[in-house]
Amino acid sequence: MSESVFQRCIHPQCGATVSLDDTSFQCPRCGGLLDVAYDWNRLRPPKSLRDFEAKWSQRTNPLSFSGVWRFRDLFPFAPDDRILTIGEGQTILQRSDSVAAYTGMNNGCLYLEYEGMNPSGSFKDNGMTAAFAHARMVGARRAACASTGNTSASCAIYCAATNLMRAIIFIGSGKISYGKLAQALDHGALTVQIAGDFDDALQRVQQVSKKLGIYLVNSINPFRLEGQKTIMYRVLEALGWEVPDWIVVPGGNLGNVSSFGKAFIELLELGLIKRAPRLAVINASGANTFYQLYEKQGARWNGGKPDDGKIDDYMKAMDAGNLRANTLASAIEINRPVSLPKALRALERCGGVVREVTDQEMLDAKAKVGAGGLGCEPASAASVAGTKKLRQEGIIGSDERVVCILTGHQLKDPTATVAYHSADPKTFEEVLGKRGVRRAMFANRAVQVPNDLDEIVKAIEVYA
Ligand code: F0G
Repeated sequence: MSESVFQRCIHPQCGATVSLDDTSFQCPRCGGLLDVAYDWNRLRPPKSLRDFEAKWSQRTNPLSFSGVWRFRDLFPFAPDDRILTIGEGQTILQRSDSVAAYTGMNNGCLYLEYEGMNPSGSFKDNGMTAAFAHARMVGARRAACASTGNTSASCAIYCAATNLMRAIIFIGSGKISYGKLAQALDHGALTVQIAGDFDDALQRVQQVSKKLGIYLVNSINPFRLEGQKTIMYRVLEALGWEVPDWIVVPGGNLGNVSSFGKAFIELLELGLIKRAPRLAVINASGANTFYQLYEKQGARWNGGKPDDGKIDDYMKAMDAGNLRANTLASAIEINRPVSLPKALRALERCGGVVREVTDQEMLDAKAKVGAGGLGCEPASAASVAGTKKLRQEGIIGSDERVVCILTGHQLKDPTATVAYHSADPKTFEEVLGKRGVRRAMFANRAVQVPNDLDEIVKAIEVYA
């Protein structure tokens, strides 16, 4: 391969390369996942991370203003005229002492990376803008994905913004929250509801995309993950380029953790950082394939020879027992994470751990995040609940610096939030009780008052 940017099989013993414009997103030799790879000897890598900060001031240049494309020298695959930016990556890293106290961390040690501020309200936009740059490079007219809701919302918004492309989204029936479904419909996506779950939808969308030549934007698409690396660049930037001790992230299809690992591996190789943070992936206990495989079965990357036998056996047993993911955190209700080998690689290089948290733990953590001034959806709060667990186990020290990724906005899934805070036992039971959630320790109940000025004033004085 003579190009300076290309796609390459992630398995070092295979190492097959594929040209930049290929859209099959699968190694032609071994069927493995692909990376976007750069020959840095022929490109001009940045000399210092500090140079990126200056781009903030170029507010009239949309690519410098974008929180993703500002860093494009670290993923230089797209010509500027193919890039479509709609304000993605304008996110913040917020120090939260109230959430620190909840998780058992010291003041000043816990930060929330709030990805809900993206145009479609989740971290997916970081990767979607990158995938769309590639889609436009290859002249795609239609883009498809399977989704638990956020990928589809992001795909729909970027298609709409191109004015040219049509989004085709596959969702499991009854498996998507209303906020996310509303986005897909509002942005004009062709919405295909499959009688099945996310894993079924993902299998179908891959078949359909191949058959009809539709551009696939699930995270099997390695260009998506290039954009998601920028979440880590922004975290470093917000910390004055100091590397934190831990990054804690919810795990579903495992695209995020894979891209974070790649970001740090590359920054180390380029000599731009001296050490990587540790990565903690938090599964929902009702969708815990990665936890089971990594922590219970001991599946590892092994320097490029992953434990495929263990992984296959686990998946077969899951199918034989007809075990299906079941969690209130619908965003991460996934059985077979598609980026699993890349996630194993990331954890090997970044000293990773995996934990599982219950729906109860997620909802309590979510209420604490909300009370602290940022709103997130249930799956996002896995990062906070997981931090609390790792603190209790003594794996994270109370004085270490921890960054929890809040992956999606609170308004993505108001049903769970309203049920948690509701005083009505029927609503609680219908939404939460049947999922094993027993109590709402941090509920903020609405107060019922007669339509009478004195009664209203009295109620306010009692409660506030
Ligand atoms: N948090 C939220 C809010 C998500 O929407 C997702 C994934 C994750 C965490 C997990 O991230 O897959 O990179 O490990 N949602 C996908 C979707 C699967 O279709 O929107 P991951």
